[in-house]
Amino acid sequence: MASRRLAIAATAALIGTLGTAGCSASRGDSDSTSAVAGGAAPAGAGTAQRHTGRIGAPGIGDPDFPNDGNGGYDVGHYRLKIDYTPETKHLSGVAGIEAKATQDLERFNLDLSGFTVSRVTVNGAAARFARSADELIVTPARMISDKAAFTVEVTYAGEPKPVRDSSNLGTYGFIPTSDGAFVTCEPNGARTWFPGNDHPADKARYDFEVTVPEGVTALANGEMVGSPATSAGRTTYTWRETHPMASYLATVTMGRFELREGRTAAGIKNVAAVDPRYSGSLDNLYTLSGKITDYWSTVFGPYPFSSTGGVIDDFSAGYALENQTKPMYGGFTPGDDIIAHELAHQWFGDSMSIKRWKDLWLNEGFATYAEWLWSEHKGHASAEKIFRTHYSTSADAAMWKYAPGRAKPEDLFNDSVYTRGGMALQALRERIGDTAFFKLLKTWNAEHKYGYVTTEEFIALAERISGKQLDSLFEAWLFTPRKPTTW
Ligand code: TRP
Ligand code: ZN
Repeated sequence: MASRRLAIAATAALIGTLGTAGCSASRGDSDSTSAVAGGAAPAGAGTAQRHTGRIGAPGIGDPDFPNDGNGGYDVGHYRLKIDYTPETKHLSGVAGIEAKATQDLERFNLDLSGFTVSRVTVNGAAARFARSADELIVTPARMISDKAAFTVEVTYAGEPKPVRDSSNLGTYGFIPTSDGAFVTCEPNGARTWFPGNDHPADKARYDFEVTVPEGVTALANGEMVGSPATSAGRTTYTWRETHPMASYLATVTMGRFELREGRTAAGIKNVAAVDPRYSGSLDNLYTLSGKITDYWSTVFGPYPFSSTGGVIDDFSAGYALENQTKPMYGGFTPGDDIIAHELAHQWFGDSMSIKRWKDLWLNEGFATYAEWLWSEHKGHASAEKIFRTHYSTSADAAMWKYAPGRAKPEDLFNDSVYTRGGMALQALRERIGDTAFFKLLKTWNAEHKYGYVTTEEFIALAERISGKQLDSLFEAWLFTPRKPTTW
């Protein structure tokens, strides 16, 4: 639902790489375009433009993650049919994608990691396809015209392989567990279980049809449609998320689960699920998730989705993810602070999504600050007190050397993005006062519900609502690799 094209030169370079690297026998498109473009090159830009004019870029245009997402189209809807057997770790899937072209497309890419693709159709007609690294390159039988709606169907199967990141992201994506799978995909692990436009700058609606052995429960985003249907020892669960959702927030977590369902005091549907190992935490997860969802609705504005809740699985990730409508907790009983954090993300990160990963503090700084607001609300330490404690750390501490307003791709989830990002909000609150600050939080949500946000837009709104010039505050707190001394 958003688009931006790569700079022409960068696109040409990437296409060049794709044109030669790892082309399998199934590669269907001819190389003649590349040859022509490469040969007749009087002026780089002009040639590249002709060359790329009808070829979707392999990345959506996030310079820090050049191959994430894709250019040339916006996805509006995914219909994901997933069949999974925990014992054999075999997944077979059919992904139906409804999209709209943002340029003429003789060829376009989807992101997909692993699997064997057996068939791709575009508008119902067989399309040629090729694989290159995590790109599935599709050449439809007929060119898709700019602005045309089109459908893609990809049939694929294999053993899903999560991403094992060597820096600080750990293991993420579709992670097989003994009784199912723990599916948490930030930042770019959706490609480990379905083909798509794997970047938060292209949100879409989702339908899920997940088939598992009888006795296994499949949980996905949004609400269940109908009742699970069992035949021949396999059960199909149908879920639907009717609000736009970033690919990294999609989940099909499966396993043995105990469920508790009902409504929050304010009337929002609430679904909690725990692995039997966490039976004792089910009631607390359900109750706290309901209370915190209701409280955030009074602070940030109406809850943006149709249900809330949470899932504790027995995969000991040691982390949690803010999966839309169903935060996932990996192998631990979450306390108030973490539940407050993941549910705050439903507003900051899920309803309002970042266009570029460098703006991650708009998710994590706000969710961390929400932990402090919850503490303050409960009569424990105030946000100001928590801020003071962090501020008292030595000027040599690592956090002060990392400017949180520009998250680094090789160290995206640095503590500074979380803690110093949260501190920037307390500094702002002290500078503009509580009335303007809380009005800002609500207005920010109201103006960008289900949309995309940037740091520049937040700063502009803070200035508009407070009537104050805030450049130096944000410069010091977000963009300077040094401990701030004023605000
Ligand atoms: N966004 C998560 C949080 O702060 C942390 C996180 C980053 C994560 N990458 C992840 C969780 C991958 C699970 C998988 O709550
Ligand atoms: Zn977070």
